[in-house]
Amino acid sequence: MVLKNPVIAASGTFSFGAEYARVYDVSCLGGICTKGLTLHPRRGNPPPRLWETPCGLLNSIGLENPGVETFLREELPRMRDLGTVVIANIWGETPEEYGELAERLSGSGVDAIELNLSCPNVPGIGLLGGSAKGTAWAVRVARAACGEPLWVKLPPEGDVLGAARAAEKEGAEAISAANTFRGLAIDIATGRPVFANTFGGLSGPAIKPLALRLVYELSQAVSIPVIGIGGIASWEDALEFIMAGAHAVQVGTANFIDPLCAPRIIRGLEVFLKERGIETWEGIRGCAH
Ligand code: SIN
Repeated sequence: MVLKNPVIAASGTFSFGAEYARVYDVSCLGGICTKGLTLHPRRGNPPPRLWETPCGLLNSIGLENPGVETFLREELPRMRDLGTVVIANIWGETPEEYGELAERLSGSGVDAIELNLSCPNVPGIGLLGGSAKGTAWAVRVARAACGEPLWVKLPPEGDVLGAARAAEKEGAEAISAANTFRGLAIDIATGRPVFANTFGGLSGPAIKPLALRLVYELSQAVSIPVIGIGGIASWEDALEFIMAGAHAVQVGTANFIDPLCAPRIIRGLEVFLKERGIETWEGIRGCAH
């Protein structure tokens, strides 16, 4: 699939786009990834759900979302009017649930489906993406259930390269790398973890070098496009990911600091290309290898 530019709003930081559409014309984006959709609505974890860290943000949201049926009925028609590519991010407890979600979304008008194969905020489950076997299983079931392009969003921990190769073998069109890193914050007044679920997912500039390393490795391990995610807050960050081999990037936590950061990154990349007289990203992508 062809995006108008390589900058996508990351799942879980952009809701379904409506709030940001009041701030700027989101049709300038390369695409928007929805909040992770599940078969049934989820209320998410009890507060606190967010905890700021130096250069980062821990979250313990717990996949709060209205469920796939409400998304299809109420959110998708509005998203289709936003003038950019819609990527439905989905999360299941089992490979079969990914299949059911993909089938429900098939033919609905979403442009791609991103399988979120991990979540640091759900106890005991949600780490299919941590292994090649779990990834292959989920991608196989989802691939059989829909014809839309399938992107596979992997956790940054576990056998990431093996999982990516397995996803490619089972017919995934792209690898999104990566989800948040599991982290911990402790309230020194109580001596207890700040989150009810103990761990949270760390995002933001603190993880950028780690995510960049993953993208560098992944883009050599698979031949499908890799979409870089992790602490991207400026056009220079985005460019580093492209130079590491990414075909596109997703901007997440930075949206909370500056809601206008994504259009700023798009403009910065455009100026970079223009100033250097470069027509396409092909000459630059992966140049760091
Ligand atoms: C959440 O809703 O808990 C975040 C989703 C994720 O990290 O996969």
